[in-house]
Amino acid sequence: MSRGQYPATRMRRNRMKAFSRRMLAEHKLSVDDLIWPLFVIKGDDTVEPVTSMPGVSRHSIDRLVTQAQEAEALGIPAIAVFPSIDPALKDNDGTLAGDGDNLVCRAVRAIKQACPKLGVICDVALDPFTDHGHDGILRDGEIVNDETVAALCRQAVCQADAGCDIIAPSDMMDGRVAAIRDVLDDAGHQNVQIMSYAAKYASGFYGPFREAVGASKLAGGDGKASYQMNPANSDEAMHEISLDLAEGADIIIIKPGMPYLDILSRAKAEFGVPCVAYQVSGEYAMIKAASANNWLDGERAMMESLLGFKRAGADAILTYFAPDAARLLAKG
Ligand code: PBG
Repeated sequence: MSRGQYPATRMRRNRMKAFSRRMLAEHKLSVDDLIWPLFVIKGDDTVEPVTSMPGVSRHSIDRLVTQAQEAEALGIPAIAVFPSIDPALKDNDGTLAGDGDNLVCRAVRAIKQACPKLGVICDVALDPFTDHGHDGILRDGEIVNDETVAALCRQAVCQADAGCDIIAPSDMMDGRVAAIRDVLDDAGHQNVQIMSYAAKYASGFYGPFREAVGASKLAGGDGKASYQMNPANSDEAMHEISLDLAEGADIIIIKPGMPYLDILSRAKAEFGVPCVAYQVSGEYAMIKAASANNWLDGERAMMESLLGFKRAGADAILTYFAPDAARLLAKG
């Protein structure tokens, strides 16, 4: 019997003692890996729970600033701010997205004033601002690409002007990364990063988020299939990523997270660029719901899911679990 086989090789030897398991761990989750998505609403001293995301709320700007301070205190490097817009202010073209005084821009200014060193990320997409809930402008039943890209450029510049550090286009229009890079540079924002949702799938896992931002009309359906990717495809994701990188993306996002770890792993291996996983609202809701029923150990499932992203190649993770995970990590 040659070495390398049982009984000379016993794989369990390295697992027998806690010190050895700890010493030989290949991957590690750190608070430095976490990005915390937060929802903002109008008003003062207002907190509105998101029913389908237990533990997650929409905060008025003053309360959001407190959340940002908490992020900083926990050592979380960055937050992502998503607005829930008053339905009366929405229209077909998502006009308000390009207004530098809109809710998200005001929120960014307030956060940057209170926490200048905290990384602030803003989504670029029209869905919080359109009355139909699509990420782009609707004309005769079609989400029109090029006109939408022009609107996204206005939105990106407003957000960068407000102090946003990272612009994150999540709309999946063609050509938007290059267009946004150009307008940012023209506006003097050469150092504002672009974190592109390069591989974003038309997913059933976004439902709770759409409730949170008040864009639920499309929840669960495949209404975004003309721009978000088909879950059946993997090569197409590599093509999307290569285009966004060529257009100037600094960081790419794979979204959703857990059902798409193969895409993440492949992207990291093929491109060797900063890759971020988005553990989306539905993934959070699943773990929360199951743990509320005592069907699984919520903390354990949370940490295992986050470690899985690291193992698959994520450099950072957008997750609603960020503060809970940070607190657990701090305990050691
Ligand atoms: C908007 C956007 C969505 C999410 C992030 N940005 C929803 C969508 O594309 O329909 C989903 C995030 C989540 O589910 O947590 N374009």
